[in-house]
Amino acid sequence: MKFDFYGFDAYGTLFDIHSAVARHRELVGPMADRVSEVWRNKQLEYSWTRNSMGQYREFWLLTEQALDFALAAVPGANVDAKKQLLGAYETLDCYDDVAGVLRKLQGNGAKTAILSNGSPAMLESAVNHAGIADCLDEVISVDPIKTYKATQTVYALIANSFGARPEEISFQSSNRWDIAGAKTFGFYCQWINRTGQPDEYLDLSPDEVHADLSGIVDS
Ligand code: LAC
Repeated sequence: MKFDFYGFDAYGTLFDIHSAVARHRELVGPMADRVSEVWRNKQLEYSWTRNSMGQYREFWLLTEQALDFALAAVPGANVDAKKQLLGAYETLDCYDDVAGVLRKLQGNGAKTAILSNGSPAMLESAVNHAGIADCLDEVISVDPIKTYKATQTVYALIANSFGARPEEISFQSSNRWDIAGAKTFGFYCQWINRTGQPDEYLDLSPDEVHADLSGIVDS
């Protein structure tokens, strides 16, 4: 299906969250992949916990605190890798399919935006490093409203910014819980299941599932 408005999750969907640890694998230690996994899981857990307490702290701080936990929790991890890992997180790799798909959508006349938990500065840095600033009409952070996904007012940010009704917007995320939140808000949802995860939130199904972003322009 073709839409006039496309919204994208950032971390895991456009940017490879595991590329930070991958860049410093030797330095991090023998269980580097586990560090990366715990880092991401804790970062998300902190966002959900903070949301439920109504105690917003910006995503960059949660990212740092999650890394501290991961380096302390995983046996053999090198705590001295913290600085390099945080630096790498500011310049994460972008997936290969991203720039081409965004350009194609814009070429078709559609508007494109990021909608992310990320702090404005971390999003700006990642977008610039990936060289995709010119193919995004908006980069929207939750920071101005001090709450995280899947709070429904987050999804309203992009509808308001586009001046579009939820059903006129196609939302893409590789995070299944984010798709559940976006579906609840009323977006057309495309789950980018990059890592072959099993389905969940079965009462809040995506409208389409693709292995990477190319599926959203080919369909
Ligand atoms: C984001 C995280 C949750 O970009 O992936 O919003």
